Amino acid sequence: MKLPKQVRIKEVGPRDGLQNEPQQVDTGDKIAWINQLSASGLSYIEVTSFVHPKWIPQLADSEAVLSSIHRRAGVTYAALVPNMRGLERALNGHIDEVSVFMSASSAHNQNNINKTIKETYPVLKEVVREAKSAGKSVRGGYLSTVIACPYEGAISPEQVRQVADHLFNMGIDELSLGDTIGVAVPTEVEKLLDVLLPEFPAERLAMHFHDTRGTALANVLKSLEMGITTFDSSLGGLGGCPYAKGASGNVATEDLIYMFHRMGIRTGVEIDALIAAGERIEDLLGKPLNSRQMEIKRRSGGK
Ligand code: HMG
Ligand code: MG
Repeated sequence: MKLPKQVRIKEVGPRDGLQNEPQQVDTGDKIAWINQLSASGLSYIEVTSFVHPKWIPQLADSEAVLSSIHRRAGVTYAALVPNMRGLERALNGHIDEVSVFMSASSAHNQNNINKTIKETYPVLKEVVREAKSAGKSVRGGYLSTVIACPYEGAISPEQVRQVADHLFNMGIDELSLGDTIGVAVPTEVEKLLDVLLPEFPAERLAMHFHDTRGTALANVLKSLEMGITTFDSSLGGLGGCPYAKGASGNVATEDLIYMFHRMGIRTGVEIDALIAAGERIEDLLGKPLNSRQMEIKRRSGGK
């Protein structure tokens, strides 16, 4: 197997991780946690989202979080932005990178952002244009339900290709492909990438696996074999989409990093520093985190 020497990890815990947590985390505690994540060597942190606070109450403090974190050189601080109102708020907070998002399936798109796929394109196109003219890069972020939708079932790679094509034509820099409900297996990932890679270069694709059924690391490995080198993950496997029933957390950052480091692939992240940040968020949420590395730490006499 030909492997890359280095991969890029995009930490989405403060956004995807917290958005699904019923226990409200205090703004000051979030900021301290993000600062600790920044110090672990991560080069990209999705810190919050500028969606409607009624839809995601946990992230209602997005302006305060983004404007108060300590900005470490070399780290990109990003956030989800659904529309122009969200962009205005993100720019006020001096966001580094904007992530727009939509779904490959109509039903999830409607439930998640209250629009049909067709209605979403012009909204995102304007956000991409305005974000670019403000000098920001735009992660095309997130195409959800690329394998299956919680409402519609299986989604074809061709359907994903068509929406991806619209997003790249808007001028996005990178597209993260989301297995929102964590159903994918490596053979499905292969079929999807077989359709996408001839059209979109591997360097502009990222994979975003939720680990609902324990297949996320296998899917990462398949994607890696096919040339993908950017992966989203969440510390402690936190996460889920409140508008996708049954979705659980992302692949855990520390488990992903353990695998990459043992394979001789650099990430730039220090696993012990991440685990310390994991212990902090465990205390804040009042529950143990669901990752192998955190469990090993607990069993070996840590908390
Ligand atoms: P809407 O109700 O259709 O919005 O919500 P609207 O445009 O009709 O406006 C209604 C009111 O909301 C207006 O206020 C707007 O100003 C206000 P009024 O004039 O009535 O006083 N408004 C806003 N306020 C603050 N910030 C904004 C904003 N936009 C409008 N940005 C909206 C549309 C998209 C806002 C809503 O549906 C929403 O917030 N959805 C977010 C859902 C969400 O965050 N889901 C989770 C993230 S996606 C995910 O987890 C998947 C991912 O991880 C990848 C994967 O796993 O697949 C990314
Ligand atoms: Mg997600």
